[in-house]
Amino acid sequence: MNLKILLLPGDGIGVEVTNAAADVLKAVAKTFGHTLDLSEGLLGGIAIHKTGVPLPEETKNLAMQADATLMGAVGLPEFDTAPPSQRPEAGLLGLRKALDVFANLRPVVTYPELIESSPLKNHVVSGTDMIIVRELTGGLYYGQPRGIGNNRGFNTMSYTRAEVERVTHMAFKLARNRRKKVTSVDKSNVLEVSQFWRQVVSEIGPQYPDVQLEHMLVDNAAMQMVLRPTQFDVMLTENTFGDILSDIGGILAGSIGMLPSASLGATKGLYEPVHGSAPDIAGQNKANPLGAIGSVAAMLEYTFGLVKEAQALNAAIGKVLASGRVTADLRPKGTPATTQEVGEAVGQALALTRVEAI
Ligand code: IPM
Ligand code: MG
Repeated sequence: MNLKILLLPGDGIGVEVTNAAADVLKAVAKTFGHTLDLSEGLLGGIAIHKTGVPLPEETKNLAMQADATLMGAVGLPEFDTAPPSQRPEAGLLGLRKALDVFANLRPVVTYPELIESSPLKNHVVSGTDMIIVRELTGGLYYGQPRGIGNNRGFNTMSYTRAEVERVTHMAFKLARNRRKKVTSVDKSNVLEVSQFWRQVVSEIGPQYPDVQLEHMLVDNAAMQMVLRPTQFDVMLTENTFGDILSDIGGILAGSIGMLPSASLGATKGLYEPVHGSAPDIAGQNKANPLGAIGSVAAMLEYTFGLVKEAQALNAAIGKVLASGRVTADLRPKGTPATTQEVGEAVGQALALTRVEAI
């Protein structure tokens, strides 16, 4: 199969983790006999530097033409006081909207090898296997009116029925192939938009009689994630709540550098590790690339339907974790591995896994 993929390294550690992920893609193509058609584009702070805008038209066009896009990270401290529309993050938000990738899937798994990397007690995190389905193209991030003026700042959290419905169906369909439980997270004790969200989700629930639906308030959900994370299977929530709760997922998985994500719509797929650009360690070849590499596995599965390849890649990640050749955030055995070394190790483990399977 020919895999036409756009790489958007972006800012900070986005560059090195995307490089490592691209190496792994090459290893997948070689091992399984696929061809790669890779292109690269500008997004975020680097795009502002080179073109004046965070999402150049050319990048948008490249993403529309590609089968899938792999993004590294966006954000640079020099833009900290810039208005939202002129920040690197605006590029990513514009891209999500342009591709209409309304559902962001963020799996949170505690690998047994990483149990000591989590600051939480072993018995709490052991066995965590949940997926956060974050609505990605609506809510507070995009709501109008918004602005700063007359001594006030304001944003709007708004959802249409259609927006809630499509992401809810995505969550239930995922749950069907998992442990058949959806926890919808909202703030319906305070917000009308959450009451509406809860109402629409409740209307859809009965269409999936095999899946259990529960509702949880977001403050309680944050606590439950660290108290008893194994209770969750699929967690469905709106854009901002999903952004916040998924960072807690980093604590469960041992490091936020571990978390991959897939942003899906009707046709396009954008794959992005959950972590940010981490300017403090950028360019030092020490960032954990496994979130980006896990996002490649998600891409193989969701965009290309290459389930075997995705499984082999996830198994290779597991082997590298077990070997202890990991980056500094994960309590390595001995000297920490570099970003590049982890990518190479995953590629090698993949080739071996493939040989063993034959
Ligand atoms: C994430 C990030 C982004 C978001 C930022 C970089 C705009 O935090 O993907 O979680 O808030 O969606
Ligand atoms: Mg975030």
